Amino acid sequence: MGCFSCMRFNRKDVRDFDEDTGSRSIKSSAKGRKGRSLGGKGGESNNQKGNVARSFTFKELALATQNFREANLLGEGGFGRVYKGRLESGLVVAIKQLNLDGLQGQQEFIVEVLMLSLLHHKNLVNLIGYCTDGDQKLLVYEFMPMGSLENHLFDLEPGKKPLSWSTRLKIASGAAHGLEYLHCEANPPVIYRDLKSSNILLDNDFNPKLSDFGLAKLGPVGENTHVSTRVMGTYGYCAPEYAMSGKLTLKSDIYSLGVVLLELITGRKAYDNSKEAGEQNLVVWSRPFLKDRRKFVHMVDPLLNGQFSVRSLHHAVAITAMCIQEQASFRPIISDIVVALDYLVSQAESSDSQGGGSQTIKQTHHHKDN
Ligand SMILES: Nc1ncnc2c1ncn2[C@@H]1O[C@H](COP(=O)(O)OP(=O)(O)O)[C@@H](O)[C@H]1O
Ligand SMILES: [Mg+2]
Repeated sequence: MGCFSCMRFNRKDVRDFDEDTGSRSIKSSAKGRKGRSLGGKGGESNNQKGNVARSFTFKELALATQNFREANLLGEGGFGRVYKGRLESGLVVAIKQLNLDGLQGQQEFIVEVLMLSLLHHKNLVNLIGYCTDGDQKLLVYEFMPMGSLENHLFDLEPGKKPLSWSTRLKIASGAAHGLEYLHCEANPPVIYRDLKSSNILLDNDFNPKLSDFGLAKLGPVGENTHVSTRVMGTYGYCAPEYAMSGKLTLKSDIYSLGVVLLELITGRKAYDNSKEAGEQNLVVWSRPFLKDRRKFVHMVDPLLNGQFSVRSLHHAVAITAMCIQEQASFRPIISDIVVALDYLVSQAESSDSQGGGSQTIKQTHHHKDN
């Protein structure tokens, strides 16, 4: 999925990094919050000793990836290629080699290492280490065997099983928990800014972890309600007020979460330029369906083959519609979304275990064939 072309590369001016991330004390405690430093409380987090990112030499990472062999390539994003590798210790990892075409990449590298060194939660990807040998900049992550959510929703290879309704809910809930940690436990709060299906990575049990924190911002503190910054992000996922005026709030992430929920429900991409004009933007396409409960079933991913509970669908669509409201202040806060999604997950699990609950809906609209 294309990033805004003006955004990621050749950015000469690094002011907003200095102003909003680099120079602010990460231990400052926001008004009304407990005096915890960025990284949050123990609780669900996995912030243990030994979880600290370490430095690697380029040679170690070349060895781990068999000299960045094509066969070990996992994927390629805006910043470079990602390879599967095996460290000398035997640990299997994902190694991201940054394209260092501009200052932007360098800034994001620093922010990524900084954020992931401080933030630890079961729904955030774990940074194992980094390499800054000479001009080289590489990041070493835990390997996520099922790849990204994007790989399981769109353009499925023949024979690959589509995600079930309950797995989709589990992924939505896990991603929401990761976001709740950033918004409510990290102190000051962190605006993730890059929530999208390709940044939700999956383990063998489809537990999701958020990845790519290079665009993350320390959120507004004290009396401030937003952070002003240049617009960066990915087409289709950006909240309208942020895309238009650079006004970034926690509610910008809620909008992006709503878009991911829409992708999970519909199996359609947030932005798809292979589709005709009115259908390229998923939110725009979905609006007529969202207005009428009777139309909810017609927007569902045909690959679900009608295997979902209509009640669960209605709740999921209602949550989604609240998240993608134009008016940021009307969007719910993440903690309320977590409660709602957890409830849907528990319902889906209990009906799965009873072997019932989901019903086969005859779908009359095969919108993918349109
Ligand atoms: N930790 C990881 N484990 C397994 N696969 C990964 C990991 N990180 C990234 N990938 C794969 O590499 C691809 C490219 O990742 P990335 O560079 O972050 O770009 P993007 O987020 O734009 O897809 C991802 O879509 C995913 O399939
Ligand atoms: Mg990514």
